[in-house]
Amino acid sequence: MTRVAGQRVRVRALAKINLSLRVLGLRADGYHELRTEFQSIALHDTLTCEPVRGPFAIACSDPACPTDESNLVWRAADLVWRHARRGRTLGGMRVEIRKRIPMQAGLGGGSSDAAAALRALALAWRIDVNTRALAAMARELGADVPYFLEGGTALGVERGDRLFALLDAPPSHVVVVVPPFGVGTRDAFAWWDRARRRHQTTPETEDDLRNDLEAPVIARHPEIARLIGRLRRLGARSAAMSGSGSAVFGLFDKATVAHQAADSLGRAPYSVFLTQTVNRRRYERLASPHRLSPRA
Ligand code: C5P
Repeated sequence: MTRVAGQRVRVRALAKINLSLRVLGLRADGYHELRTEFQSIALHDTLTCEPVRGPFAIACSDPACPTDESNLVWRAADLVWRHARRGRTLGGMRVEIRKRIPMQAGLGGGSSDAAAALRALALAWRIDVNTRALAAMARELGADVPYFLEGGTALGVERGDRLFALLDAPPSHVVVVVPPFGVGTRDAFAWWDRARRRHQTTPETEDDLRNDLEAPVIARHPEIARLIGRLRRLGARSAAMSGSGSAVFGLFDKATVAHQAADSLGRAPYSVFLTQTVNRRRYERLASPHRLSPRA
């Protein structure tokens, strides 16, 4: 029988929005050269690592979320375990994901879970991983995973994985609206490629938020443009699509106005979240893994 080795750990995985996203071109490695401003929001998943006898396993509150090796959390576990050179078979651990961040929404849920899993599993398995090694693992997992090791307001360049801390954006109330369909990141970038070949450029907007993936995604899903318009009419200081969509968000100065906007959009078929921006310092506190007392 396998020994139960490790400690119980819990971590929050916060979502992000993109305050701006410029696509500068297609790189030789097939990725796109980006210039994007990430912003953490309080909406989060929660991961709990529980040492168990028996094999490594993932459980998720959302049945649509894969729980096998294709889940980025599993791949994060593999990287941490290999780093420790403790053998081929992953240590016995059950990772439970309480999913709140909608998937295929451009809110970074899968990437944030992966970054959170790297840190939580290192603590749960008592594996020492320095900052550099952690960043390298994050980059291997996906282009926006490294951002979730830092959080707050940050500029991402190259694939979006080279980061520079920015001054905290002004605190805002955020209304996130998720349409009843998702958009795959790979598809959104492929649509951008096609539009560029046809020399269609993104029109300049009045809004200070600009997302170059908006136009090609809206061409397939016009509902996204309507939702952005509605958020503006409901008093958002600015509104845009997040990342590759399908979620849109509005930034509000006043809680009451944000509340009313969320109320009037909060009917089926949309999922609506009323949340706030989270600055770098608060992110550090909120997104750090912590030990739980052992089960009685
Ligand atoms: O890195 P990740 O696996 O999260 O990216 C998902 C997909 O998004 C990539 O396979 C690629 O098609 C696209 N992508 C891109 N350029 C980026 C980031 C992502 O083309 N900078």
